[in-house]
Amino acid sequence: MSRVATAIAHPNIALAKYWGKREGEGNVPAVPSLSVTLAGMTTTTTVRFDASLASDELVLGGQKQVGRPLERASALLDTVRAHAKIDARAHVVSHNDFPTASGLASSASGFAALALAACRAASLDWDAARVSQLARASSASAARSLFGGFVALDGGDGALGVASPVVGPEALDVRVLVCVATERAKTTSSTDGMLFTQRESPYYRAWLDEAPRTFARLKSAILEGDVRAAFELAEKSALAMHACAMAAGVIYVSGVTLAALSEVRAMRADGLVTYATMDAGPHLKCLVPTSHADVAKERLARVPGVLRVLETRPGDAARIVETPSDTGRAFDASAEVR
Ligand code: PMV
Repeated sequence: MSRVATAIAHPNIALAKYWGKREGEGNVPAVPSLSVTLAGMTTTTTVRFDASLASDELVLGGQKQVGRPLERASALLDTVRAHAKIDARAHVVSHNDFPTASGLASSASGFAALALAACRAASLDWDAARVSQLARASSASAARSLFGGFVALDGGDGALGVASPVVGPEALDVRVLVCVATERAKTTSSTDGMLFTQRESPYYRAWLDEAPRTFARLKSAILEGDVRAAFELAEKSALAMHACAMAAGVIYVSGVTLAALSEVRAMRADGLVTYATMDAGPHLKCLVPTSHADVAKERLARVPGVLRVLETRPGDAARIVETPSDTGRAFDASAEVR
């Protein structure tokens, strides 16, 4: 039986945001969310179960990890070991080709790739939905990165926190321009930020009421192929999430984020279809139809403080690769993990 496997996964950016956790076990979101998986940024993770290891090891971007990152990886590996009935500890090597832990959704692609590689290395025959649930327990947004294109994650009362594809990557001819604002890791994790928001924000109740409505409208817009309506709702969702968090003192945006946001709005005033979204970090992501992407990219690159602009597009599902240099076999959402 093979004890080693390598998986690649892409980050995703939520168009309808998840912010807040439901009470109870399993890391289930308090609201439904809808994301787009992003080709152009990739996490590659190799898991090797090795009976000679005394404990799990995690090497991320060439650096041996201890403390919280290692504990979170070990928790996922423990679940896999329990189901596969194996004891061996694992050596995990992971690499992102984009800044880590700074709101570029590295936890999404990181836990999606780890979950898939670990299941495969342990010879667990789980389908994408089950691997996605495993990833969700570590990072809810990771549940969405198991799938390609536009992906929904249910949430709220009675929800199980299950991700499923809405439409494929080709459905909307769009680009997501990532304005990199820093190479540094963020200081407040998204989990801490949302728990603090839940406790302290005077607007959290309003967020819980509004987010499912925005999600439903956004999902319809995507199914109808209405790019402008989808983008408009995405910007609204991002601003509502950040306003809610900010009212609790949780601030992820920086001056660079706001400068990029005003450029996005200035471009809109000039007739371009440009909208903005941002997650738990300072990097603004500009949503734009492909036909307007070149101009938007050029203008965003000139915003003071923007280090560079990464052009991404709707991408494919997480997948197993035979060697780290492979581009990867597509991981069909209905196929088993083999
Ligand atoms: O799943 P986490 O802990 O990485 O939290 C993700 C939170 C946001 O990125 C801000 C929103 C989302 O839906 O991805």
